Amino acid sequence: MSSTHADNETIIGRDEIDNIEAILSITNTDVDEVEHIVKDNSDAIFTWDYTLARPQLRKLYEKAKVGQWNATTDLPWDTEVELDEVVTRDQAAFSAGLSPDHYDGTVVEKWGDKEWLEFGIDQRRWTLSQFLHGEQGALLCTAKITETVPWYDAKLYAATQVVDEARHVEVFNRYIEEKLGGGFQVNAHLRMLLDDIINDSRWDMTYLGMQVMVEGLALAAFGFMHQMTEEPLLKQMLRYVMSDEARHVAFGVLSLREVYEGMTDAEMKDRQEFAFEAAVRMRDRFLSQEVWEKHGVNPRDVVPLILRDPTRELFQQMLFSKIVPNCKKLGLLDRNESWLRRRFEEMGVIQFEDWEDTGSEYIKFELGAEISN
Ligand SMILES: [Fe+2]
Ligand SMILES: [Fe+2]
Repeated sequence: MSSTHADNETIIGRDEIDNIEAILSITNTDVDEVEHIVKDNSDAIFTWDYTLARPQLRKLYEKAKVGQWNATTDLPWDTEVELDEVVTRDQAAFSAGLSPDHYDGTVVEKWGDKEWLEFGIDQRRWTLSQFLHGEQGALLCTAKITETVPWYDAKLYAATQVVDEARHVEVFNRYIEEKLGGGFQVNAHLRMLLDDIINDSRWDMTYLGMQVMVEGLALAAFGFMHQMTEEPLLKQMLRYVMSDEARHVAFGVLSLREVYEGMTDAEMKDRQEFAFEAAVRMRDRFLSQEVWEKHGVNPRDVVPLILRDPTRELFQQMLFSKIVPNCKKLGLLDRNESWLRRRFEEMGVIQFEDWEDTGSEYIKFELGAEISN
């Protein structure tokens, strides 16, 4: 390990990435919380330079203006969602990829179809709830970027993303309330990450945490769910959200590329550590510990098995299929003796490094285009 980087204990609060006890000890202790306050330490920056300096960002801005959609009128909200049926059909594909036999020897072994279905329904409510909370994180982060980024073209683009994120919060919340009968509170790992992103005073860290890491993961996760689900409203909703989300990730990649090219090794070290922290927090949250607890299962009994479930492993790796090539494009993988590359190797996700990065791929996600993922 490069001597300049902090150790795991300092970055993620534990030595071993897979220390299950440490992961599960982080829980949301205030599930009735309505308001959550985070200190925003950034400066708001005016620019008096209104010249067009970054044509790629201006192109994104133009794309965003014509790519707007109306959540109220463009989605088939009158679709009847038969939850039992839909979850049964989709469950094998994406209820965290769980394979019941794998859990023999635990309390879950006795579960029949009814228990697995109830778990699957809550798993879906939980998953979409975390998307909702993440979308609100994106809403706040993008409002923050509008203030803090020193470039005129980026301020214009970021303002369009604020509207996009408002729409995403709107659709996920409406779907959860109207079609799923309610959701779950924010997962503690996700909230820690969102807090860290908002809290950081350096404007590029908002981009790195949100546009590259959180939204990179979201784009992959939405793509996975879009491909797997047969529920027509959810499928269309995800398709619409992805058309915006790909643009958002491109905004991060195109902006940070310029910034990171000029950074010193010491500055890049901080960015590499932050990217690693974000990757681990997002992986931790996908253990969905709150759903197990609600169904009377101690997550400590099943999480070691989840981590070794081959179907789940594939899903978990796929979540990083956008993040890794984008980090490579930004120079994050290989600066400072490839420190982040080695972390991603340990997490088993480095195989995506040569996949297309979103800085060029985003146009393929525009509405009307056929997408393969
Ligand atoms: Fe979003
Ligand atoms: Fe977004």
